[in-house]
Formats: sequence, C-alpha cells, structure tokens
Amino acid sequence: MADYVIKKAEYIISGTKKEHYPKLNLPEFVFMGRSNVGKSSFINAICKRKKLAYTSSKPGKTITLNFYNINDSFMLVDVPGYGYAQKTVQDRLKFGEMIEEYLNTAENLKSCFLIVDLRHDPTNDDKLMYEYLKHFEKKVVVIATKADKLSKNQMAHNLKRVKEVLKLAKEDKAIVVSSETRLGIENVYDYLISELS
Ligand code: GTP
Ligand code: MG
Repeated sequence: MADYVIKKAEYIISGTKKEHYPKLNLPEFVFMGRSNVGKSSFINAICKRKKLAYTSSKPGKTITLNFYNINDSFMLVDVPGYGYAQKTVQDRLKFGEMIEEYLNTAENLKSCFLIVDLRHDPTNDDKLMYEYLKHFEKKVVVIATKADKLSKNQMAHNLKRVKEVLKLAKEDKAIVVSSETRLGIENVYDYLISELS
C-alpha cells in the first residue's frame, strides 16, 4: 500500500510522570518491549529518520517516556525497555509505576505496539507485558522485528511461534518488520492510518 508521507517528526519532551506529558491532545501510540529489542530503531524507521530516537547496541538506552509529534496528527511514545534496564528491585518498581501511570492516564492512547524479536520465542517478560496490556484492556499490535536476520521460511515459522507463545487474541494483529531494511514498514503505516481514521 501507499507509503505514508512524513512531513514532520519532532521530539517534544521526555518525562516520567503525568505532569510531564505533553498537552497537544493528539492520538498516541506507545512502544513497549524488552531492552535492546529495537523500539527506538523502529520509531526511527517509521519516522524515516536515523537519529530522532536514540538507539544503542547496549541495552538501557531509553530511560524516560519520550514523546514525538508526527505531522501534527499523532504522537509516538518511546518507553524504556524491560529486562536489563531495571537492575534493582527499586528500578523495577519505578518502571512499573511509570508504565502503569501512563496506561491509566493517557486519554488519547490509541493502541500499544509490543515489540518482540522475531529471531526467538517471546520471553516470559514479553508474555507478561502482553497479558498486562490486555488486563488494561488496551489494543495491542505485536511487531516482530529484526526480520532481516531471517529467511522467508524462518519468518513465517517464527511469526506463528510468536502468536502461539503470546496467545495472541483474535482482535490483535502481528506485523513482521525490519528497521534496517524497512521490510513491513508500509504495513505499519496502513495500521496507523486505519487506527487514525
Ligand atoms: P532500549 O532503549 O535500551 O530499551 O533499546 P531499544 O529497544 O530502543 O533498542 P534500539 O532501537 O536502541 O536497538 C538496539 C540494537 O538493535 C541496536 O544495535 C540496533 O541497531 C539493533 N536493531 C534494531 N532494530 C533492528 C533491525 O530491524 N534489524 C537489525 N539487524 N538490528 C536492529
Ligand atoms: Mg530505546
């Protein structure tokens, strides 16, 4: 389908609490996933920008909620990864509170992107995050990324595994992507457009 035109992709603000959230009143999409899975890279791929969201080969790069305004028509919210980024119990509690406050108060949240690594089965943390989002009755779209590392056959096989392991609900979609090659990014635009219309 058609390539989505990005006229503007602008960093707005970072924050950890609701007082910090921007007041632009635009529909939002949030990006969850374990540390280093490729959330920030995926945001850059959507925005067609290399360095809008900071990425790193080391886990724990994103440490706050980071809000990006796209075309003055919607917002993308980058989130710290779960897993390595929370080293202590204290860190995990803080992360949990930050996410819970966001999910409870983001009035314009349209749906949650749950990013998983297509090369492997979803982890226990991935399963918990999916269940957690469903518990909050959020719409979820699973993004299986790093597909450039796999053959076509492996992609199909592993996508099936991702759906099985997460027990993906019928109403939730899963999309295979690569932020490196842009495979599947058009399907993501189609999803965004359908959610916005
Ligand atoms: P945190 O902010 O630490 O939670 O990580 P993140 O999920 O934002 O991951 P990030 O986008 O920083 O990417 C982590 C690493 O994975 C980087 O080295 C990226 O270059 C790499 N990466 C991300 N997406 C892809 C992809 O589609 N294909 C390949 N081959 N590598 C990728
Ligand atoms: Mg990141």
